[in-house]
Amino acid sequence: MSSKPSTGQYDLVVVSNRLPVDKVIADDGSESWRGSPGGLVTALEPIMRASEGAWVGWAGVPDDRSEPFEHDGISIVPVALSAEEVELYYEGFSNDTLWPLYHDVIAPPTYHRDWWDSYLEVNQRFADSAAANAAQGATVWVQDYQLQLVPKMLREIRPDLVIGFFNHIPFPAYGIFSQLPWRTQIIEGLLGADVIGFQRVADAGNFSRAVRRLLGFTTKGTTIEVPIEDAAEVDGRPHRTRVSRRGQQVRTVTARAFPISIDTESFIELAHRPDIQARAAEIRHELGDPDVVMLGVDRLDYTKGIGHRLKAYGELLEDGKIDVGHASLIQVASPSRERVKTYMQLRDEIELTVGRINGDFSTISHSAISYLHQGRPREEMAALYLAADIMLVTALRDGMNLVAKEYVASRFDNDGVLVLSEFAGAADELKQALLVNPHDIEGLKEAIVRAIAMPQSERSRRMRALRKRVIEYDVARWSKSFLDELAALTHAQSANEAS
Ligand code: G6P
Repeated sequence: MSSKPSTGQYDLVVVSNRLPVDKVIADDGSESWRGSPGGLVTALEPIMRASEGAWVGWAGVPDDRSEPFEHDGISIVPVALSAEEVELYYEGFSNDTLWPLYHDVIAPPTYHRDWWDSYLEVNQRFADSAAANAAQGATVWVQDYQLQLVPKMLREIRPDLVIGFFNHIPFPAYGIFSQLPWRTQIIEGLLGADVIGFQRVADAGNFSRAVRRLLGFTTKGTTIEVPIEDAAEVDGRPHRTRVSRRGQQVRTVTARAFPISIDTESFIELAHRPDIQARAAEIRHELGDPDVVMLGVDRLDYTKGIGHRLKAYGELLEDGKIDVGHASLIQVASPSRERVKTYMQLRDEIELTVGRINGDFSTISHSAISYLHQGRPREEMAALYLAADIMLVTALRDGMNLVAKEYVASRFDNDGVLVLSEFAGAADELKQALLVNPHDIEGLKEAIVRAIAMPQSERSRRMRALRKRVIEYDVARWSKSFLDELAALTHAQSANEAS
């Protein structure tokens, strides 16, 4: 008989490709850790502190061998990736196979068997680390597409754990997903979880369909029955299983939508700060006090539809519908995955387009586009949101798009117009935005013109409704609903076992 795996000390373990802190190596070789103030960290911080939580993930640099440490009351457990694994598992399989595939093949996915081998190996390393750190019966919450095999691997080592998985990006329709040579392994990997969360109802539906098509399991609404072959034994009894109507021993997995949100309150607070309001006024002034400021904020990624946005804007300038003295566009494009070829090509395309539009339409005193290829601190983002009359979110496909929610949260003045792609998950919730199909350049141009001309009363009515949603459904509510679902499942199942 195999020996029982040793357990760790943490009751809640979050596993994500990136840690909530990045290792920063300065030019002089000195090393430090920098917190990344993302929504996920903010949401989970209080829960992690209250429940002896640990965060397992990669420090963002190759070959980092740091020992576990404490950061702001959270235990950080680094997982090392070699330079080769960064290339094969992270840049390759995660971001040149899965990312384009899951975003409806906007760019062609690349399939390489050695990338897959590395994905397997690295997923196993994350699973081993989570298994070594989780206490008996602990909850482990695995995040995103880089780690889809972890739930199954983890369950194999530690059947006592309660396992959740959340997919932050879209899950594609079966016709697209089925391209993946390793499609069955991915589905089986995810089904190791008790609860699998998606951004949209449609994503959960696509996943369930893939389960039916590839494995033939029964799915009903948001539940999936996973037949048990080797009943996992915990203390000599089958754990969290039941007998299905067909008389099969099954595990029940829930797959449903939990749309993620932002730390709304922190954006409201930032937007209320006098220094940030002063900065917003300064930004407008520096642009030459145009009547209309438009804003785009994205990672420089081909899924974001930046090119479509620039095309529409350039044509409006050309048609004379807007002119540079009157309107201005700020495009923040933060550098991302810069060693992946598709991203290098995208950067060249976008920067060529920006250069052309500026060359054709800027004047000495007014730029058509202020283009910033830089990440910006949250304070500056809040100032930009306040400065922008129109926020342009024109993603061709996006799991959620938190920028749309950040803009809405910041506009406590109930002003500003959100132009939002119907292909972003956020469109399911932010229905009072001006919804657009970014492929339809004429429609996009019309929406921009409509946004410019929108009367104040309509702007205010729409923004109030949008804000209501983002204030009610913040990221704390998101994480609570996910963890509550996991907890409820465990209770229900233990009750089942007891009866
Ligand atoms: C998306 C993904 C995240 C990822 C982030 C930044 O939001 O869902 O998992 O961390 O992009 O990408 P990067 O490759 O820099 O981690």
